[in-house]
Amino acid sequence: MRILAIETSCDETAVAIVDAEGNRARASFKVIGNALLSQIDIHRKYGGVFPALAKREHAKNLVPLLRAALEEAELAREDRQTLARGIHDGITLLLAREPGLDAAVLDFLAEMEPPKIDAIAVTAGPGLEPALWVGINFAKALALAWDKPLVAVNHMEGHVFAALAREKDGGFGIADVELPILSLLISGGHTELVLMRDWLSYELIGATRDDAVGEAFDKVARMLGLPYPGGPEVSRLAESSRTHGLRSRAFELPRPMIHEASCDFSFAGLKTAVLYLLRERPAMNDADKRLVAREFEDAVAEVLWKKTERALEQTGAKTLAIGGGVSANAHIRRVFEEKAGTAPGVELRIPSPTLSTDNALMIAMAGFYRASRRDFADPATLAADGNLRLA
Ligand code: KG4
Ligand code: ZN
Repeated sequence: MRILAIETSCDETAVAIVDAEGNRARASFKVIGNALLSQIDIHRKYGGVFPALAKREHAKNLVPLLRAALEEAELAREDRQTLARGIHDGITLLLAREPGLDAAVLDFLAEMEPPKIDAIAVTAGPGLEPALWVGINFAKALALAWDKPLVAVNHMEGHVFAALAREKDGGFGIADVELPILSLLISGGHTELVLMRDWLSYELIGATRDDAVGEAFDKVARMLGLPYPGGPEVSRLAESSRTHGLRSRAFELPRPMIHEASCDFSFAGLKTAVLYLLRERPAMNDADKRLVAREFEDAVAEVLWKKTERALEQTGAKTLAIGGGVSANAHIRRVFEEKAGTAPGVELRIPSPTLSTDNALMIAMAGFYRASRRDFADPATLAADGNLRLA
């Protein structure tokens, strides 16, 4: 099954074309086209993602990215003029749209010979609604013009599948996964523990009561005078302290809710503790900032592991998957690799670095699992849902 996948939930516009084979027990994915454009440089000056700008950028970039992915996959049977016009029309129209389709988008698509694909998968949520709508409208237009089934994918489900996948023969494979799967999903908008007892059915085991862990990283980065997105910056600072110096007790931070019996998290207090610490020492030098970043990372990793360990015990999960942008964090990966070794009978799955942050390949993989059960969306009613939940 050949899947065209589209992701526009936040600040990455991505289009992927994937040849998927097999079944849910053993699936393999060959990436034949993959085009991604990050808007990080554009949002950096605002210190975060600016939704109206994200929407405009997605609208501007989707058609050229689709074209690039189709060309890479050698699926664009060139009629360059039609494509060029399509790009122009696509930009103009997608810029203007909220919910709904414009007939002229369909016209330009109808002029293109439909490529050989079997289904179109698109992120339906969660994320920034104006950004999600751009991808959804585009996917609907493609589905209608080319007469292909449409698959709606939850972005967080994409992160779960990115974690389960392993690099294989230049592509990816999902195999030998024992259920139940406990997923720790950690991103800019989410921090949750989700259980999959049966494929594609989810149960919420724990979640943050306030800030998401990525959000805490981004806010702490700002306090330390680091640019957006803060996660990788805090990580860089913390890592340099790990190679340089000893831990300093002067910067001890709390481990919120670590002793509570629930599997819920809280990161707002930790963030505030960093704020107070920095206020107390307005002229902190770089070496001390490194220690603060490191202590913050240590606190986060400790809490994440403790809660995950509790959830593993509670659920008897056999596979532990970690997904979302924060799963790219080197220290968190190390802690989980080390600790998971102490949890008998549990296999850890961490996404390869290219699949940690937002991308369309994960949407294609999850889309394949949904399409295999003929779980298709109705183009007439599919809507963006900024707060779409897994469970
Ligand atoms: O999953 P993602 O790409 O987008 C969302 O769905 O939110 O996650 C983005 C989040 C941001 O908060 C970013 O700072 C964080 O992931 N992040 C990291 C690292 N790389 C990205 N946090 C800590 N360490 C990293 N290396
Ligand atoms: Zn994400």
